[in-house]
Amino acid sequence: KQATDQLIIDAGQKHFGAIACKSCGMIYTAGSPEDEFQHTQYHQSLLDKIKFVGWKKERVVAEYWDGKIILVLPDDPKYAVKKADEVRQLADNELGFKQVSLSCPSRSKTYLFVNSEKMIVGCLVAEQIKLAFRVLNEPAEQKEVKKHELLEHHRAWCCSTKPENAICGISRIWVFSLMRRKGIGSRMVDTVRNSFMYGCHLSKEEIAFSDPTPDGKLFASNYCET
Ligand code: ACO
Ligand code: ZN
Repeated sequence: KQATDQLIIDAGQKHFGAIACKSCGMIYTAGSPEDEFQHTQYHQSLLDKIKFVGWKKERVVAEYWDGKIILVLPDDPKYAVKKADEVRQLADNELGFKQVSLSCPSRSKTYLFVNSEKMIVGCLVAEQIKLAFRVLNEPAEQKEVKKHELLEHHRAWCCSTKPENAICGISRIWVFSLMRRKGIGSRMVDTVRNSFMYGCHLSKEEIAFSDPTPDGKLFASNYCET
């Protein structure tokens, strides 16, 4: 016991208290052997999951100076589908979805943002839908409509009871914590609007965000300019 305490005190002189790793984003206590062990494990598994080695056939749907967006469809080669699933699970973990399978895997399209360091730093899952319900603003301003949401498993947001037509449902959107606020989320949604339906450009009204988190809500409100 005493030996451990001593270790913490020693390391504490170099780094004090909680620190955030600059490459995986985990916050841990420097100098705590348990924390450092957990960090090493998380760090390696995260980097393995988001590492993108490059595929023989990549469906590149958008290219930018700092990366590209690849679309993965359910019938793609196993290695591609597996990678897309792995990244989606990472996102699900952060969103608090536990072992939630896709509502319709055969109709879902996964968009992956690969940056110039060959890491998958963004993931978006889009599914075809028919109806969506708008999320209404705080009670005081409920006349004003805010944003779409699917009926299934909705949270505490107030929803309109009037269903509206939507074509594309975004069931998950996730950007690696250290890469947020660089327009990656917006560029993924732009790309979905251009590529979800062949030969069609979807308007902002034709896409719906399902079950938004607080981050997701802020992002979607900004994106939809509501
Ligand atoms: N707080 C306030 N405004 C925000 C936030 C936020 N957390 N995130 C985005 N915005 C707004 C800002 O106005 C931003 O523009 P600015 O940076 O110039 O101010 C604008 O949206 C565009 O943001 P992007 O940079 O395009 O979005 P980003 O790449 O950071 O991705 C996302 C946003 C996906 C929500 C990211 O924060 C994330 O992965 N969060 C954790 C997972 C999550 O909650 N996902 C949404 C779940 S809901 C769903 O999946 C349907
Ligand atoms: Zn780390």
